[in-house]
Order: sequence, then C-alpha cells, then structure tokens
Amino acid sequence: TFEVECAQTGVTLTVPQDRSVLQVLQDAGIEVPCSCEQGICGTCEVPVLEGEVDHRDSILSSAERAANSTMMCCVSRAKSPRLVLDL
Ligand code: FES
Repeated sequence: TFEVECAQTGVTLTVPQDRSVLQVLQDAGIEVPCSCEQGICGTCEVPVLEGEVDHRDSILSSAERAANSTMMCCVSRAKSPRLVLDL
C-alpha cells in the first residue's frame, strides 16, 4: 500500500496491494488514457514529480527508469510510501 498525490488535482489517493495506480486514479475520476494495462503499450504514461517508482513495465529504458520522472501507471508501483504525480 502506498499513497499517490495528484499535484494538479490536489488529491491524495491510497493504492492498495490489489489495485493498480491506474484503477485508483480512474476510480477517483481522474482520466488517464490506457490501452493494454500490461505495461507494454505506453498509453498510460504519467509524469512523476516525487517519490521512487517501482517500474514494472516493459517499455522504459534503464536510463528512463533511473530518471524516475515518468511511469506506466497500469503496472508500475512505488518503492517509497508516496508518489507525487503531475496530474
Ligand atoms: Fe499500456 Fe499501461 S496501458 S502500458
């Protein structure tokens, strides 16, 4: 379980073990385009402002992962207790 703060929207959401960041955002009415929901298409990429991402997609390069400035929110999670997204 970790928290996701949407900097532009001003809401903080809790992501439980059995839900994706994408699902939690959608439940909160925050529209994020998505397609594959398996970390392979890149549609659900969202900008990350703070926090450490646990990248679980198959798209980003190791340099992009290390930069920690974006994530595929359908599969990737957090290593830190909180992520701040530019949403
Ligand atoms: Fe395809 Fe997330 S919806 S990578």
